[in-house]
Amino acid sequence: MKSIIFVCLGNICRSPLAEGIARKIILEKNLDIKVDSAGTGDWHIGDAPCEHSIKVAAQNGVDISTQKSRQVNQNDFTKYDLIIGLDESNMTNLAKLGAKGALKLGSFGCNNEDVPDPYFFDGFEGFEKVYTMIETCVTQLLKEHNHI
Ligand code: 4NP
Repeated sequence: MKSIIFVCLGNICRSPLAEGIARKIILEKNLDIKVDSAGTGDWHIGDAPCEHSIKVAAQNGVDISTQKSRQVNQNDFTKYDLIIGLDESNMTNLAKLGAKGALKLGSFGCNNEDVPDPYFFDGFEGFEKVYTMIETCVTQLLKEHNHI
């Protein structure tokens, strides 16, 4: 079994979407992959995903409402086969924390672009854009790592 952890800053906006989308594809394609998400920061530990992320996911048939934010830890770096950061600052933070071989989500079909942090955008539109980008990249990642 393969395992993947998606890591952003707060684990309330972007990485919960990546986890939810991956979970949906894994279920649909009957893949043997464990998936998780976490944040490098500790501000939102125990919180549900942000309202806009829950909404945009629900509009796309993905339920992330029961996820709870947690902070990434050293165990994650040995426990998961793939550590996937959502933007360049997540990659820097992961490297500082000692994660080896982490990959950026945007390197899978999105020209290595950052998934921008929608937390500081105003409105819902940013979340729709971020959802589309995460869906593209997560689909590509699962294709590359599972030959689906
Ligand atoms: P995320 O967004 O990294 O996509 O979960 C953020 C959520 C909260 C904060 C930063 C980014 N914050 O500073 O509280």
